[in-house]
Amino acid sequence: MSRTAHNDRIVEQFTRWARPFSELPVHAEAEGMARTLAAAGIGPDMKVLDVACGPGIVACAAAQRAAHVTGIDLTPAMIAQARERQESLRLSNLDWRVSDAMKLPFAEGAFDVVLTRYSFHHMPDPLPVLREMKRVCRRGGRVVVIDATPTPETQAAYDRMETLRDPSHASALTLDQLRAVGREAGLKEGLVDGYRLTAQLSTVADGKDMQALLQMFEADIDSGEDRIGVGACRDGYDIRFCFPISIVAWSVADVI
Ligand SMILES: C[S@@+](CC[C@H](N)C(=O)[O-])C[C@H]1O[C@@H](n2cnc3c(N)ncnc32)[C@H](O)[C@@H]1O
Repeated sequence: MSRTAHNDRIVEQFTRWARPFSELPVHAEAEGMARTLAAAGIGPDMKVLDVACGPGIVACAAAQRAAHVTGIDLTPAMIAQARERQESLRLSNLDWRVSDAMKLPFAEGAFDVVLTRYSFHHMPDPLPVLREMKRVCRRGGRVVVIDATPTPETQAAYDRMETLRDPSHASALTLDQLRAVGREAGLKEGLVDGYRLTAQLSTVADGKDMQALLQMFEADIDSGEDRIGVGACRDGYDIRFCFPISIVAWSVADVI
């Protein structure tokens, strides 16, 4: 699929999901947010960039610790949600842009911290995105990626499940693959952390592939094998499962 077609698919999917995504409590879950902000190491005089910021959940949380936060996202409906969140929280130190993570509209070294959450699995080629994040981060600054990282054994099934749940899914990296992308981008690894994000299937999926998705989860539950690697179980009429989230924080070397 061409890059344009993939981007069109992203915008279509996240225009539909902008409001539900913004309102789902799981996306503002406290432990994950605390670990994310700790990894980012944001201080009161820092400028932060949130790449693929969606409805601005992380950006607005970061803005309560930073001097200024900029959020960029490909989907205008997500940026509209982000502006609403900013207004409802009465925050004045943010700005937003509709833009592609592949080509960030900022100068070299413009930010102290550059982060992205739950976006890398939408990127057909994450390396150039990480290179862009590094480019706009100052020397000595921090670049942070937070995303689902299946194990090597579950990666193929996890990707199948995610593609059924969300057709704009590209591929989730394993933690080792994500760390390798960091090395290839020339970043210095500082911290690796993670958390499991519990979700109800009915709140994070819809659409034409729901039957196939349910079958996949039910096969795991009935066999007792965790082939998708998300610890699925029945919860009344619903299915509960956990996204395996990793956080990797790198620093940009003082001398490049
Ligand atoms: C699952 S949402 C995550 C939103 C937000 N980062 C969060 O954690 O709440 C993924 C977001 O990535 C955005 N996205 C995907 N590919 C992108 C790209 N190439 N450039 C910018 N944004 C992109 C989508 O529009 C969507 O808002």
